[in-house]
Amino acid sequence: MELNILVVTDSHEGYEELKIIVEKTEPDIILHAGDFSRGYDDLPSVKRQLEILEHLRKPIYWVPGNHDHNSFILHMNPLRKFSGDYCEYLSSGKSVLLGDIAHEIAPGLFIAGLGGAPPSFVGDKERYYGKPYQTKTICDWAVRQVLRPQLNMPGQYIILTHFGPLGSDTTKSFKDGVESGNQGLTDLLYEFRDKILINFHGHQHRGKGIFIWNGIPVVNPGPSVFGNYCEINIRSIDNRWEIVGIKLLPNKS
Ligand SMILES: [Fe+2]
Repeated sequence: MELNILVVTDSHEGYEELKIIVEKTEPDIILHAGDFSRGYDDLPSVKRQLEILEHLRKPIYWVPGNHDHNSFILHMNPLRKFSGDYCEYLSSGKSVLLGDIAHEIAPGLFIAGLGGAPPSFVGDKERYYGKPYQTKTICDWAVRQVLRPQLNMPGQYIILTHFGPLGSDTTKSFKDGVESGNQGLTDLLYEFRDKILINFHGHQHRGKGIFIWNGIPVVNPGPSVFGNYCEINIRSIDNRWEIVGIKLLPNKS
């Protein structure tokens, strides 16, 4: 069995860019790693962008970014209350908001997710505040208490997060020295290295790339608001999923 996966992130209300990506791809599954909004908390833009992705008529799994409404962070919103018509829309089953339980997307292959982001640093100095995780420690807590329990099924996992693991080149901006990764996620990738197939994340616009962390590819497709996306092909052989190829598009330096 083979699967083609489209991964987008950081669309930031780039509707036209998202439509162009949708027209160019024919995935079996679609992932969005968060930051639909351009400012903060723009609920209608999330719905509108999910509707663009729905034109592909394939399952969509997504996590909210730090720019998206806190009500999408499911562990902060245990009553699952969304404002206005979002409650009905998000309950329609067209797309899956990750953040509480893992979902089996193919036999023996699960997807688990965690939205939001910790603060970003330049050295020891906080450069961008975290949302909803105001400190590194709170983000570590969310990884341990919210993401980790999702990995309790036998099988392999795709991890979809908005922020990436500390230590990966995909979380850094080498231009201005900003580090946006989180140690808790790094620890989780190590602890579950035999179960995790790949980690997709966004958040760091200047971190587009693939970084191999203890044998696990950590992939930041780059912001789709600037036309970036990722196509990945995976296959199952003898009940074990493996990566056939990862393409970061558009293919330019
Ligand atoms: Fe972000």
